[in-house]
Amino acid sequence: MLVLGIESSCDETAAAIVEDGRTIVSNVISTSVAEQALYGGVVPEIASRRHAEFISATVQKAFSDAQLTPADLDAVAVTFAPGLIGAVLVGVSFAKGLAYSANKPLVGVHHLRGHIAALYLTHPDLKPPFLCLVASGGHSHIVQVEDYTRFHVLGRTVDDAAGEAFDKVARTLGLPYPGGPSVANAAKTGNPHAYRLPVPHVEGKYNVSFSGLKTAVLNAVNQAQMKGEPISVPDMAASFQERIDSILADKLLLAAQDTGAKTICLAGGVAANGRLRALLNEGAQKLGARLCLPRTALCGDNGAMIAAQGYYEYQAGNRAGLDLNGLPTLPIDYQ
Ligand code: KG4
Ligand code: ZN
Repeated sequence: MLVLGIESSCDETAAAIVEDGRTIVSNVISTSVAEQALYGGVVPEIASRRHAEFISATVQKAFSDAQLTPADLDAVAVTFAPGLIGAVLVGVSFAKGLAYSANKPLVGVHHLRGHIAALYLTHPDLKPPFLCLVASGGHSHIVQVEDYTRFHVLGRTVDDAAGEAFDKVARTLGLPYPGGPSVANAAKTGNPHAYRLPVPHVEGKYNVSFSGLKTAVLNAVNQAQMKGEPISVPDMAASFQERIDSILADKLLLAAQDTGAKTICLAGGVAANGRLRALLNEGAQKLGARLCLPRTALCGDNGAMIAAQGYYEYQAGNRAGLDLNGLPTLPIDYQ
């Protein structure tokens, strides 16, 4: 079964064709990230405008790379929530037009479910149930993936998402957007024990909080500036990365231990972080659990993950009508 996946919830305009939820036939990503970097973060209006400009050529390339036409598809899947609403609506509107004109079923996909589905594209034998940390620019969830379309949230951030914390700390340190890769890069030559950063207290056993951590970095930088002392960007980047990654890894491993999960997974943009991957590798080995990580190229937003999840939503009987609306927020365990 061939599914086209369309993604436009943030600054990537992406389209891909995936076979049976597992095999990528084509995968095309256009991005406005370089332009967003000029402003230090995503400007929603710019994102929407670029999606509108890019989407037609992006989808066309997904077809031409696959040497397929819309008539060959079995379904059109599209991210309908959560995301920047103007951005989401570009993809949703395009997908509706395509599904209608080609007379194909339309499937709405939750963006975070899509991030989890990137794991199916990387590990052909991976099947639910498993425990997954989904960490992106807008969300940080510890989720029990009970089935392909059934989820139970065990914990979440009570304030900033992990990716958002990376982005804000990068900005404080004068590093470019997106912050995750630039902090990770600066951290390579830094000492992770140079600055003592707090472990924020948070209610809820599997919840996380990053706002205090971000503020601690900001305060350290401001105090150093006031005293006229230099701050080491590599040392601060490494200290921050070590702290946030160990909080994320510890929470996921704790949840794995408590629930007896045999398979633990990581997904979302932050899943590209090398230190986080290494910490989870060590922890999973100690627990005797299998660890599955998405291919680095599939951690960030892409159409293939939406097509993969679209396949499983379709199999579960989920179809959208031409009245499908975009939503800025929606829980991952929506029914
Ligand atoms: O999933 P994603 O591509 O978009 C959203 O759904 O938000 O995640 C983007 C987030 C950004 O905050 C970015 O800084 C972060 O993922 N990110 C990383 C890395 N690569 C991207 N964070 C830490 N380390 C990385 N290597
Ligand atoms: Zn995402």
